[in-house]
Amino acid sequence: MYLSRDEEKILGGVEGEGKAKAMEILCAIGKIYGADKLIPISSAQVAGVSYKTIGDAGLEFLSDFAEKGAKAAVPSFLNPAGMDLENWKKMGIPDEFAEKQLRIIEAYMEMGIHSTCTCTPYLIGIRPKLGEHIAWSESSAISFANSMLGARTNRESAVSALSSAIIGKTPNFGLHLDENRRASLVVEVAAPISKMSDFGALGIIAGKAAKEKIPAFIGLEPKLANEDRMKSLGAAMAASGSVALYYARGITPEWRLADEPENLEGIVVEAKDLAETKERMQSADALDLVTIGCPHCSLSEIGEIAEKVKGKKLKMMLWVCTSRKMKEEAVRRGYAKIIEKAGGLVVADTCMVVAPIEEMGFKATGANSGKAATYLPSLCRQKIKFADIEELL
Ligand code: F3S
Repeated sequence: MYLSRDEEKILGGVEGEGKAKAMEILCAIGKIYGADKLIPISSAQVAGVSYKTIGDAGLEFLSDFAEKGAKAAVPSFLNPAGMDLENWKKMGIPDEFAEKQLRIIEAYMEMGIHSTCTCTPYLIGIRPKLGEHIAWSESSAISFANSMLGARTNRESAVSALSSAIIGKTPNFGLHLDENRRASLVVEVAAPISKMSDFGALGIIAGKAAKEKIPAFIGLEPKLANEDRMKSLGAAMAASGSVALYYARGITPEWRLADEPENLEGIVVEAKDLAETKERMQSADALDLVTIGCPHCSLSEIGEIAEKVKGKKLKMMLWVCTSRKMKEEAVRRGYAKIIEKAGGLVVADTCMVVAPIEEMGFKATGANSGKAATYLPSLCRQKIKFADIEELL
């Protein structure tokens, strides 16, 4: 991979040990994937934040990186942590977990990474434009940025996104190149798709079929495919397959096929496929926690929940997961108060998957998200009910 003179100097340690290490990581990745050079990025989104997922080894790595004086060179933002950074006690997070989690956040902040702690940065103003190069590492955010915004990012790991944040560049390969952004699987939607769980189930089916291919959806109704539903579709595809980019006719700003649609490999998704997928995912008879907000809720999703629980008493804990900025707005509009009065919580900075819910005694969780329903059994040892908000509430 070609390095400019300045980049070579950074690699040689002229700008400090931290930057040299980050450059070394990017060079190794560039070499493996055959990148020709490094290209500038406008932002980095860094995963690997929850103490639950990175543990003591991750904490040590980050503290070490921060001590070496590494600092973000472009606007950089964190993925969800393992707890609400302000209200962790209210959530029932163990003290020891909280102490380690706060040290992780400190290390990132020392490196100049903003503690936004959300998987939906695009809902709080961090919205890269069509054709803009970025280095993001949360799979659902990658999918949304590539597909719904037309930005360009590979599926970065926590370490590669952090290195890109520090250098302000990423190796030029994969989805940064136009020739690798052509759809290779047509997904014809022959089922009526309107509810959130339909989009989640469709994402699970399409992700499994696509694996690492780029799907192109035909037949999704643009009027029903709002951003909330499309973020759920993309998140489910990224969880059941490794889909980092998709197209949807009449919905995504780009539509690039590798061939004529009739020559491409394709699948047809019918109503019975959605019903079977939903059915297969159910494993809980009774629940002890209901979670909404995977990916993190938009303000309108929080408003919808507030409307539904207004004046009612919930029989079990409800978590409405969102970003801190969105929670602040939900507080201002009175949504958070209504939800809390009903017995639920608007939880910021974290989510049902990366919080230690299994250690907190929860065994059976309800979710309206295909991604959460995919990960909760394996990553959090939960039995699952996958259904729409109305049914869960
Ligand atoms: Fe976000 Fe957590 Fe889901 S990080 S996409 S809410 S698993």
